Amino acid sequence: MSPLVVVILAAGQGKRMKSSRPKVLHRLAGRTLLEHVVAAARTISPAKIIVVHGHGGDRVRSALSHLEVEWVEQSPQLGTGHAVSQAVPRVADESVVLVLYGDVPLVNPVTLEEVVARASEKTIGLLTVELSDPTGYGRILRHQGRVTRIVEDGDATPAEREVGEVNTGILAVPAARLRGWLAMLEADNAQGEYYLTDVTGLAVRDGMTIETAAPLATEEVLGINDRVQLAELERYFQRREARRLMYEGVSLADPARLDVRGEVVAGRDVSIDVNVILEGRVVLGDEVVIGPNAVIRDAEIGPHTEILANCVIDSAVIGAECRIGPYARIRPETELATGVHVGNFVEIKKSRLGDGSKVNHLSYVGDSEVGRRANVGAGTITCNYDGANKHRTVIGDDAFIGSGSQLVAPVHVAAGSTIGAGSTITKDTPAGELTLSRARQTTIRGWRRPVKK
Ligand code: UD1
Ligand code: CA
Repeated sequence: MSPLVVVILAAGQGKRMKSSRPKVLHRLAGRTLLEHVVAAARTISPAKIIVVHGHGGDRVRSALSHLEVEWVEQSPQLGTGHAVSQAVPRVADESVVLVLYGDVPLVNPVTLEEVVARASEKTIGLLTVELSDPTGYGRILRHQGRVTRIVEDGDATPAEREVGEVNTGILAVPAARLRGWLAMLEADNAQGEYYLTDVTGLAVRDGMTIETAAPLATEEVLGINDRVQLAELERYFQRREARRLMYEGVSLADPARLDVRGEVVAGRDVSIDVNVILEGRVVLGDEVVIGPNAVIRDAEIGPHTEILANCVIDSAVIGAECRIGPYARIRPETELATGVHVGNFVEIKKSRLGDGSKVNHLSYVGDSEVGRRANVGAGTITCNYDGANKHRTVIGDDAFIGSGSQLVAPVHVAAGSTIGAGSTITKDTPAGELTLSRARQTTIRGWRRPVKK
């Protein structure tokens, strides 16, 4: 089999986005359009992927420099045929070239395989689709059922415009032949561009056959030209993702009100309420319950844990059987062990809490190590920042911190310590003892409130 080279066209400006950002850097489901296309290309294991960039100079390339692709610049942008010409010098003759578009993000790998399978010495694989409104697309012209050429919307006669079968732009061609046809392209058309689509007519004249394939769903070949189309494809993506999760055993209160912007791995009987956003890599254990309006990014949630309404969780590992929220904020580098309770208006940052510990109300725990079964009372604040540096607070097993306390780090509250409510703790406390720092309470007998004159 011939080696496969994928060429992704991403040099266009995307005028209709009305954006200062190149179009392929706009995001769908949290990822740039180009990253979606590269990911789809990757799944069919090509020998290499070449991205043709151009508009916006090096912006696309530098924003996505982590991608393992070869970059080729097209400047100026003289059309899709001209774009592919910039890449073919890097392609060996015996290869098959699969052309993809940077602004068609949801193409399915199975569909790509179908197109590639139709390319051979004597054939070109072309992905086409029947649209009820084909306006703007290149039309597939056939004679006695065989494709003869593609005509662009702007160059088509009224009769040709009636054709509903359109060019998706995705095609697979033997490289050596492609090289020849590209050299023959002319820009004598409505847009004054070198059209890749003209390759089809040239190929048919040379005795090639165009073998068409159809996508599994129309949406996978829809291109994004403006923000309305971007939003429509976003919704399509989210519907598809919601269905996938439900088929895997996740209950969704409303599949239209979940947004997945990354990869979700879910166990059995997970249940997710409305308006939840999952970003990055989110792993949900069996029977996890997520309440409404939760935003969870790059987190692992252990089995049977319940995330109540309105929590924000970012880059954290939460153990089994925890109860978080409502209104809790769990910040990066937090690790909660088993059975931890974090209640309302509690912020936890870069801290570890041991099994069964509780921080139930209105607290800030930062840069801390909390043991097992500790009880951190309402309104406890770890004062971790001295204005220049961050310091650690250590709270031992079974410690009890009275409400309204401040723990001025670095400080160590030993195991079994009890801290009286309202204390400001600046020194390490001894194990098993009651420590408090509190002005003595006095009463002024007979004192009267002032009265208005
Ligand atoms: C193209 C096809 C049309 C097809 C449609 C499907 C041609 C001539 N027409 O039209 O038959 O129905 O796509 O969406 O191919 N690009 C470059 N360099 C350029 C020009 C474009 O890299 O000089 C890139 C764009 O960034 C984009 C893709 O090629 O990713 C398609 O270009 P676009 O101008 O959107 O082509 P259409 O007019 O939509
Ligand atoms: Ca387009």
